[in-house]
Amino acid sequence: MNIIVAVSKNYGIGKDGGLLFSIPEDMAFFRSTTSGNTVIMGRKTLESLPGGRPLKNRRNIVFSRNGDFSVEGAERVSSVEELQELINGDDNAFVIGGEAIYRALLPYCSRAYITMVDAQADADRFFPNIEQMEEWTLAGASEWKEHEGIRYQFREYHRKAE
Ligand SMILES: NC(=O)c1ccc[n+]([C@@H]2O[C@H](COP(=O)([O-])OP(=O)(O)OC[C@H]3O[C@@H](n4cnc5c(N)ncnc54)[C@H](OP(=O)(O)O)[C@@H]3O)[C@@H](O)[C@H]2O)c1
Repeated sequence: MNIIVAVSKNYGIGKDGGLLFSIPEDMAFFRSTTSGNTVIMGRKTLESLPGGRPLKNRRNIVFSRNGDFSVEGAERVSSVEELQELINGDDNAFVIGGEAIYRALLPYCSRAYITMVDAQADADRFFPNIEQMEEWTLAGASEWKEHEGIRYQFREYHRKAE
């Protein structure tokens, strides 16, 4: 499993149920990286998508503890064990948020694609500070880019071999 996320300098990822940034190249990167693959998200992130609908051209798996949850085009799971049974070691599955699901699944992921945005954000949802986790290492980074005065960089972190 992999993680894909956009974070601010203070590791913020969202506020009031929505995203913090809208960077076209980041959205395009998200789309091209996840298209044709499996995306795994929390119920609140699903609700934040346009129309509250699953993402097109991807297998959508949604975490919810609510047994009545049912959305066309999405499969529900209620535990990590259930997820693992469903994806069965799929290396091309991407955890796409939000905070609750990133925290629950980071220990099971081997790669993290992090768009680092060079701005402090007033956020109410956060990603763990992966720089401070000794089991992760920075494997590569793009040059710094800029959109409407906001600087950002694509980073790839790998879980260190045991
Ligand atoms: N910057 C980024 O890249 C990025 C990406 C995605 C999301 N976000 C942001 O993150 C925020 C949403 O994050 P969030 O933490 O509030 O919500 P979330 O992780 O999207 O969803 C939380 C929901 O997932 C279900 N859930 C969580 N843990 C579970 C578990 N262990 N087992 C079963 N179900 C579980 C529960 O659903 P039920 O209540 O139905 O049981 C819970 O209410 C939004 O602001 C969004 O815009 C940012």
